Amino acid sequence: MSKKLTLLIPILTIISFVFIACEGQEKASSAPNKSSSPNKIVGGGCEGCEAIYEYGDKVLINVDTLPDYNEQNPKIKITGIVYQNDGKTPAENVILYIYHTNSEGIYPTKGGEKGWDRRHGYIRGWIKTGKDGKYSFYTFRPGAYPERKWPEHIHATIKEADKNEYYIDEFVFDDDPLLTASERSKALNRCGSGIMRLREVNSELLAERDIILGLNIPDYQ
Ligand SMILES: [Fe+2]
Repeated sequence: MSKKLTLLIPILTIISFVFIACEGQEKASSAPNKSSSPNKIVGGGCEGCEAIYEYGDKVLINVDTLPDYNEQNPKIKITGIVYQNDGKTPAENVILYIYHTNSEGIYPTKGGEKGWDRRHGYIRGWIKTGKDGKYSFYTFRPGAYPERKWPEHIHATIKEADKNEYYIDEFVFDDDPLLTASERSKALNRCGSGIMRLREVNSELLAERDIILGLNIPDYQ
């Protein structure tokens, strides 16, 4: 191996690690995903989406409060209804996994993480819908990554009972100056738009987003 190549390999490795760490979640992967179906992978695959299974012995219900909610601001309640693919029928028993950065734009860790929390950090939560399809989670507004090139966002993954897990558009904020026209035009609107408008209700910041299963999701069947 030439001296140049010997130097290049560790540099490329570092660059790719930084990129993945910044993104927190790699959206597409050629690696096969855990799937409950012998058919095509719904959603095209996603490295890190399997973090949706890392809820341990937590009993999932249709509401969750994310870690550091009490310590950080501004606090937000995010809520909506998960609908089946027809956009009308509430979807029951759907798991929603969300994670985001702290106010400094970092996915914070506490040390000793062994799962996807090494990359996603500990500010994450899980919800399972009931018959009415409703979900809510209490959290705080995430910070943009320190380089401030991407909008503030909350990553989200969905698991339906009879399908493999897949990611949906990130939750983002309509009033975020980093959510430029260019960024908006890149949105795939997976399961519908993730752009939310914040409004104050009873001195609480509220954001709403409904989720339509399968909408704009490749190979949804
Ligand atoms: Fe991210």
